[in-house]
Amino acid sequence: MAKPVSIEVWNPNGKYRVVSTKSMPGTRWINLLIQQDVRLEICTEKKTILSVEDIIALIGDKCDGVIGQLTEDWGEELFSALSKAGGKAFSNMAVGYNNVDVNAANKYGVAVGNTPGVLTETTAELAASLSLSAARRIVEADEFMRAGLYDGWLPHLFVGNLLKGQTVGVIGAGRIGSAYARMMVEGFKMNLIYFDLYQATRLEKFVTAYADFLKANGETPVTWKRATSMDEVLQEADIISLHPILDKTTYHLVNKERLAKMKKEAILINCSRGPVIDEAALVEHLKQNPLFRVGLDVFEEEPYMKPGLAELKNAIVVPHIASASKWTREGMATLAALNVLGKIKGYPVWFDANRVEPFLNENAQPPAACPSIVNSKALSLPVSKL
Ligand code: GLV
Repeated sequence: MAKPVSIEVWNPNGKYRVVSTKSMPGTRWINLLIQQDVRLEICTEKKTILSVEDIIALIGDKCDGVIGQLTEDWGEELFSALSKAGGKAFSNMAVGYNNVDVNAANKYGVAVGNTPGVLTETTAELAASLSLSAARRIVEADEFMRAGLYDGWLPHLFVGNLLKGQTVGVIGAGRIGSAYARMMVEGFKMNLIYFDLYQATRLEKFVTAYADFLKANGETPVTWKRATSMDEVLQEADIISLHPILDKTTYHLVNKERLAKMKKEAILINCSRGPVIDEAALVEHLKQNPLFRVGLDVFEEEPYMKPGLAELKNAIVVPHIASASKWTREGMATLAALNVLGKIKGYPVWFDANRVEPFLNENAQPPAACPSIVNSKALSLPVSKL
């Protein structure tokens, strides 16, 4: 028998039982659930990563839906347990769902929700922050100050890279990649090169319009280029930010050979998923190329870092916090809760998962819809009308 898992209960007499495997920011998500006759159980276990057994214990014999986290392994075992308990809905509190076996969810008829549209700018802002921190060596300089080593201004002290006029490379110009590109182009007057299977038309138009604006003001216009291969981006860009989803095709997308193609003084940023980079190869590359810098929010085997990474001065590492702004995290909690609630109530799926503002307006009731269900087509779920 699995050990009981500690929980906090809201609205004990609610008709529907929903479990959240973690406490999440804000209270709106809780209120939205309990107002709709949900008995909400929030796991209060101290350990950060729950095992499959812990979650099976949380699901119990009767459970209508679960709100879970990207650290959990949602596969056959959990979807089978949820389905056996009568559950029809699961939502990740994340936009990425590489921790979820969607085929297993389909097999058990469980809807899988995610939380796009609310973390685009926040995540892009962290990628931009890491870019600046790496280019201007902010973390190293901070450590130097705190160590009491500053004994006066010097011409060579922490000299970094000027971004203006350099080229920013984006691999994966979807929502987050495009937002990051816009920030770097407009904020720092960088030229853009991007690689994506789809043409990022809106991004291209934005850069063209900004270039016209600069020209009209007598400044050097920025440029953009859609690369025909990822290697072209790696070879030409000064800062490269990775924004693909993680799947079989993007596992170790950046490996030893590809690192070798990058400029010796390039900066590599990853706020997508850790396994997109071969982290052991990256550690070697950083050791061999002290002027190459990296800003990492994600790691190949979280929460661990590959040996050697933590000691390297040319690496900035933060603990998977790209979506960690208060507004975004509260919004993610709301969207995840509404995905589960909507499916339980039999609501249709929202017509556009990128336009979720109506669900985030605290002064109005959210639409009667599930904001984003990734397997809605496979489950033939109805879609809401505008
Ligand atoms: C965070 O990494 C997310 O996918 O939302």
